[in-house]
Amino acid sequence: MTPPNAARSGTFAIGGDLSVNRLGFGAMRVTGRGVWGPPADEAEALRTLQRLPELGVNFIDTADSYGPETSEKLIRRALHPYADDLVIATKGGLTRSGPDQWHMKGDPAYLIQQAHRSRDLLGVEHIDLWQLHRIDPRVPRDEQFAAIRQLLDDGVIRHAGLSEVSVADIDAASRVFPVATVQNRYNLIDRSSEDVLDHCEAHGIGFIPWYPLAAGDLARPGGILDQLVTKYAASPSQIALAWVLKRSPVMLPIPGTGKVKHLEDNVAAAGIDLSDDDFAALDKAARSQRR
Ligand SMILES: NC(=O)c1ccc[n+]([C@@H]2O[C@H](COP(=O)([O-])OP(=O)(O)OC[C@H]3O[C@@H](n4cnc5c(N)ncnc54)[C@H](OP(=O)(O)O)[C@@H]3O)[C@@H](O)[C@H]2O)c1
Repeated sequence: MTPPNAARSGTFAIGGDLSVNRLGFGAMRVTGRGVWGPPADEAEALRTLQRLPELGVNFIDTADSYGPETSEKLIRRALHPYADDLVIATKGGLTRSGPDQWHMKGDPAYLIQQAHRSRDLLGVEHIDLWQLHRIDPRVPRDEQFAAIRQLLDDGVIRHAGLSEVSVADIDAASRVFPVATVQNRYNLIDRSSEDVLDHCEAHGIGFIPWYPLAAGDLARPGGILDQLVTKYAASPSQIALAWVLKRSPVMLPIPGTGKVKHLEDNVAAAGIDLSDDDFAALDKAARSQRR
């Protein structure tokens, strides 16, 4: 059997010049319960991160708020000095007060401070891709976009993206800086961002679907993916990932895990070539279960 490799998912050039294998990794799960503090099994989390380059994964998504700081620090411990082709994307704009507690903070000075902090923690000269975690409704969005413009102009970050946004938000931000990526919740059964995905595809913007496995729901047997498990000799989660990869060439899924075995299973999805008929059948079946 050929070993799993993310290169089989094909490539996408973030911002037109940062080429990554489309199947990436979400580093939110290398933290403690409720995305708070260190992971229960730190050695396994480190092993998971160290396995990424061997599996051809060269796109990692994290955020200053994962832990907070735990994920960025662990990435550095596991992978620094970084391989030339590794792209680490991080985010800012959320603060934490405990497990599962998240608060928006879009003050421009805070966004700038946190991007500098992430750059230091990750140990990079500039952040390849920095994403505004949320547009804070209490701060005029143009002020938040202007902070991003400043980070780009100052060379702190190379490309910038948004998270949980509408097409109108993308259009507004695009008047201030080039939007390289958009990260919205999206998976086979949660398609509320379909219009945003279509917009991204039309404009060459990378679309990063978070929650691609619906936090494991799509990995459990007994669901709509079971019909294809035998045909493709694959697990339900692999079929779910193969489906999002086939949905659009701008799709950059970042399944998250703190376990080497789950990482290997997820990367193997890059080698599954769903037929057009099976893609359409899954789409149809999923419509009845949409959230
Ligand atoms: N922009 C945003 O607002 C936002 C929000 C949430 C997440 N994100 C990003 O998106 C990434 C992915 O989202 P997510 O982690 O919430 O959801 P996900 O990738 O859909 O699911 C992760 C969950 O599924 C489990 N899992 C992963 N692979 C598995 C496998 N092969 N078999 C069985 N279970 C498996 C993981 O548990 P184990 O650890 O036990 O494997 C984890 O609990 C995050 O890591 C983060 O980088 C962004």
